[in-house]
Amino acid sequence: MQQPAITGTGVFTPSQVITNDELVVAFNAYVDRYNAENAGEIAAGRVEAKAHSSAEFIHAASGIEQRYVLDKSGILDPAVMHPWLRERSDEEPSQMAEMAIDACTQAFEMAGKTGADVDAVICAASNHERAYPAIAIEIQNLLEIQGFAFDMNVACSSATFGIQVAADMIRSGSINSALVVNPEICSAHLEWRDRDCHFIFGDVCTALLIERAQDAKGPHFLIKSTRCATQFSNNIRNNNGFLRRTRHGQMDDRRDMQFMQNGRKVFKEVLPLVSQHIAAHLEAEAISPDTLKRLWLHQANKTMNDYIGKKTLGRPPAAHEQPNILQDYANTSSAGSIIAFAKYSNDLKSGDTGLICSFGAGYSVGSVIVERS
Ligand code: COA
Repeated sequence: MQQPAITGTGVFTPSQVITNDELVVAFNAYVDRYNAENAGEIAAGRVEAKAHSSAEFIHAASGIEQRYVLDKSGILDPAVMHPWLRERSDEEPSQMAEMAIDACTQAFEMAGKTGADVDAVICAASNHERAYPAIAIEIQNLLEIQGFAFDMNVACSSATFGIQVAADMIRSGSINSALVVNPEICSAHLEWRDRDCHFIFGDVCTALLIERAQDAKGPHFLIKSTRCATQFSNNIRNNNGFLRRTRHGQMDDRRDMQFMQNGRKVFKEVLPLVSQHIAAHLEAEAISPDTLKRLWLHQANKTMNDYIGKKTLGRPPAAHEQPNILQDYANTSSAGSIIAFAKYSNDLKSGDTGLICSFGAGYSVGSVIVERS
């Protein structure tokens, strides 16, 4: 059996930033407009007035301070409240492929490899720009990669599930290397007019080059073990899909066509699921939690991460043991734990062990035990 290793990482970060203060100013202007436009209905008790958001609440409830987005002009326009993302023609690279090329190129540079060294591309993300051809095949084509490519979606756990798939193919010998790439355009599936969640997401793309350890040219991380689990839940849901047009005969503005969540229930149900999953994975691999040098956790909510870190290590983790990127990037779905890994892993020493873990809609949870080499 071959030993898979992460040899390169890349993070594409959009150039535009929205701070909590900017976001709240725009949201509150939208609320004032809405309440003024619906003043009669609100006074008659037929429509509920919308409430203002607050930057203090956002930071206290989530730990988020800002988010990167592909377009802030539309999101911050109270008359628009969504990003303006130009629809690409069939002759142009898709938006997701464009982000992916940037992240994959960084991963190649780090590993000292090119598209000629890659056998497969997995585009693992929580939303895909189109049904087919697969975004992954477009990325494969743009990077001049032979072999095969496919898209997969396990929501916030897409990246870790993608790592397991790539690692399994390398272990079995069916391929020698794979790119796992996670272009997450979360701004396009977030309802920016919903006070309960308008602050949650940002855009990003991460990439990992996974190869046989024997092919690594520089320092790398051995993938020692992977474990995936799912358990059905409606508490995080997006009903958008190909039946959208036919169900109602026309495009509509239904709230459930964007990200929906019952945040409190997610909080309560996902925490035990994830802590138990990590504990069982470590136990099965005979790894004592106190030997873990780093946790790269899914980045959705700081309180959640602090809880999982404490449950895993049996004590509150020091900041360097469980790096957060949430304050800068917000929740970037499947890419969050990979951003943390890409930015905070180079200092580990040979033999150090760490754990990447993602969790989210499905519910889904994926953990990857890695060792610096
Ligand atoms: N500004 C000001 N107040 C707000 C607000 C906003 N933007 N949004 C909600 N509030 C208010 C609510 O109205 C509520 O007021 P009330 O107590 O008077 O009813 C109060 O703040 C608490 O709201 P609640 O939604 O219960 O907050 P919370 O502490 O549960 O935090 C989340 C909300 C979403 C940050 C939190 O539940 C969470 O992170 N859950 C998990 C999310 C997650 O991981 N999802 C996975 C996605 S991939």
